[in-house]
Amino acid sequence: MQIEDKRAVVTGAGAGIGRAIALELARRGNDVVVADVQSEAASAVAKEVESVGRRGVAVVCDVSDPGAVESLADQAWADLGGVDLLFNNAGVGTGAAVLDGSLDNLRWIFEVNLFGLWKGCSVFGKRFVEQDTPAWICNTGSEHSLGFAHAGMGFYTASKHAVLGLSDVLRHELPDHVGVSVLCPGMVSTELWNATRNRPERFGGSEQADALSQQILGEGMDAEEIGRRAVDGVEAEEFLIPTHSVTRGHAETRWNEISAAFDRQAPYREGDERYDVTNVMQRVLANQSNG
Ligand SMILES: NC(=O)c1ccc[n+]([C@@H]2O[C@H](COP(=O)([O-])OP(=O)(O)OC[C@H]3O[C@@H](n4cnc5c(N)ncnc54)[C@H](O)[C@@H]3O)[C@@H](O)[C@H]2O)c1
Repeated sequence: MQIEDKRAVVTGAGAGIGRAIALELARRGNDVVVADVQSEAASAVAKEVESVGRRGVAVVCDVSDPGAVESLADQAWADLGGVDLLFNNAGVGTGAAVLDGSLDNLRWIFEVNLFGLWKGCSVFGKRFVEQDTPAWICNTGSEHSLGFAHAGMGFYTASKHAVLGLSDVLRHELPDHVGVSVLCPGMVSTELWNATRNRPERFGGSEQADALSQQILGEGMDAEEIGRRAVDGVEAEEFLIPTHSVTRGHAETRWNEISAAFDRQAPYREGDERYDVTNVMQRVLANQSNG
């Protein structure tokens, strides 16, 4: 995927990783729609894009509002004459043990991290298919998508697993000219620790997070580095874009547990292929088309 003279939309681009992706895209010669729920932040980053010499268009968009995502696409196509790259990056999280978390927070995290991301895939993806030119969707997952089980972050972890599952199916459903990536960063120094600052009233309203989370996330990788790796990953047409070598350990732990569970409980038995859903579907469909 050639990343030059393209037209990009980045959600959650008013801060952190989204801002870094937007600026990296601009530096590599692309125009960017900077979408964020925070109006001032979106405008400030759009100005930074312009200062690099590319078009930067600020759009206020709460991705948990399906109508707002439709309007974002309308505005992007109207302002840039088309879109080639979508970075579904807006995301939120807040900590609580699984047993203690509130339904409001579970809904908020899923409405932004999954439902909003799905709406972006659907609205932009359909237009990409119709446009019939090379296009790419990069969904921001996390090391939480790859097996990192972070005590106190169960809702967030569940949402990021869902991002990986959705993206994996999507890539198999899309035509060849539309690609999909999942960006899977580890810890990055951003404002994510304080995501509840923007939590809408319907999910419990705004709240200041604790300073400990700020201190921990402050130890993370520089967001600019993630912006570079995200754009590099899309350019190289990678499906998975991990950014922290330590994430590999979490993924290996997950895989080792899966593998050992199979060894103990479901080792291969002669003829098991007959239960492979892909084989069964192919056979049933072939029989159907043969009458
Ligand atoms: N920081 C990390 O350690 C880390 C690690 C892995 C993945 N991520 C993911 O990266 C993405 C970006 O997070 P970040 O760390 O840059 O956080 P951040 O809080 O610094 O930036 C997120 C931006 O998204 C915006 N936003 C929040 N809700 C929105 C909504 N409903 N609609 C549109 N915009 C919204 C915020 O206003 C903010 O500008 C998220 O999906 C997050 O889950 C972060």
